Amino acid sequence: MSILIKNGTIITAIDEFVGDIFVEGETIRAVGENLKVEADETIEAEGKYVLPGGIDQHVHFSFNYRGEKVRGFETSNAALVGGTTTLIEFVNQEEGKGMIETIDNYNKESVESIAMVDYCFHGVAGEANEQLFAEIPKMAEYGVPTMKLFMAYKGAPYHCDDAAIFRALQASKDAGVTIMVHAENADIIDILQKQLVAEGKVEPYYHAVSRPVYAEVEATQRAIYLAATAGAPLYVVHVSCQEAMEAIREANNKGLPIFGETCAHYLVLDESDLAKPNFEGAKYVCSPPLRTQRHRDVLWNAVKNNWLNAVSSDHCGFDFKKQKHMGIKNFADIPNGTPSLENRFDILWTYGVEAGKISRSKFVELFSTNPAKINGLDNKGHIGIGYDADIVIFDPDKKGIITAEGSLQGVDYSPYEGMEKIGTVEKVYLRGNLTVKDGKFIGEKGQGRFIKGKPFGLCYK
Ligand code: URP
Ligand code: ZN
Ligand code: ZN
Repeated sequence: MSILIKNGTIITAIDEFVGDIFVEGETIRAVGENLKVEADETIEAEGKYVLPGGIDQHVHFSFNYRGEKVRGFETSNAALVGGTTTLIEFVNQEEGKGMIETIDNYNKESVESIAMVDYCFHGVAGEANEQLFAEIPKMAEYGVPTMKLFMAYKGAPYHCDDAAIFRALQASKDAGVTIMVHAENADIIDILQKQLVAEGKVEPYYHAVSRPVYAEVEATQRAIYLAATAGAPLYVVHVSCQEAMEAIREANNKGLPIFGETCAHYLVLDESDLAKPNFEGAKYVCSPPLRTQRHRDVLWNAVKNNWLNAVSSDHCGFDFKKQKHMGIKNFADIPNGTPSLENRFDILWTYGVEAGKISRSKFVELFSTNPAKINGLDNKGHIGIGYDADIVIFDPDKKGIITAEGSLQGVDYSPYEGMEKIGTVEKVYLRGNLTVKDGKFIGEKGQGRFIKGKPFGLCYK
């Protein structure tokens, strides 16, 4: 099967031009003006933007909080209607099992036959011990060249101390495995949480008070020093504030391979959302917490200038009615995370590109090209010859409103409820197969494929 997409405005991370794309099977075979080729199907894309499918490198489909599970891969078609064709899912190491064994079982039992989007995994360290450090180099061969360690969440089995992080960094560097950290100071947070609760300050807003900016900055700076000492690269996930971003930028300016991402919600929401009445604030409980307008402005500037390298969703599908209500009496019991997979495109385009904060090419870089490079997904993230035909056709004129109703995320709320979106994802091709038509999912379960990541992704600069 071959397809010719004609006369669209093709946007990549490096340029923008009106042209055609010729796809044969799963692969882009030609890109240029007025291509003279015979195709089984011709798609007219005049007046539309044609971009590479998004890569969302921060998704939780198997996270569980005290036995309560998030929505899983059965909702992965939400990625496609939101213009994301590949996602990377965090897999928590199971007790008594190796990291690769955990990922392999999970893939075979719960993902392979269900995934509707292409996917890779990040390991999440459970018990960080010598057995795990010995396994880190093998992760690169297995095709999962990344692992997250939690500096936050004191008392949780997956909380890692500095020794664990330092050992993981040492074990990772020669194999090209990227260590990722959730950087917040667990002790500061633990003390503040207990003090606030003792004072009767239990509403969702106090989640932000218990996780101050400097708790994030201190842990970010510490992780940078640990990485620099180990001589290893480091990736800081979900950066929420100016000072943590500055620590990363400063390290990077010194030539250290230290990189980071922010997430859609930190760019458009803030702590005033956490103060919404009737427990509505619980919908916005994520960690690090939402900050203030100052940080939002700085983060937009940071992604524009490559001081942060990607914008992820940190998608976490806990519902409001039951699961978020676990914390009705105490903010510290609210499951962390917000659902955002379907709306990353809308947020970055409407409030970034349309608002004049980033260019269209920068959008592609943050949404697709950089996450592909960082995670070693060589055939993804670009419209070019030989790349997978993961292609989004976007109508920039069709406006809408973001709402949870009818969303494929399967969650009973959206943190962006009622926000305007400019433009609509019209068609999405996943490796040459049309999976979204007129904004609706038309694919099938199991069409997604495990894509192996290559090591040394962070050395792309
Ligand atoms: O609040 C968040 N970010 N929840 C998901 C787990 C994590 O820390 O990434
Ligand atoms: Zn995290
Ligand atoms: Zn996360």
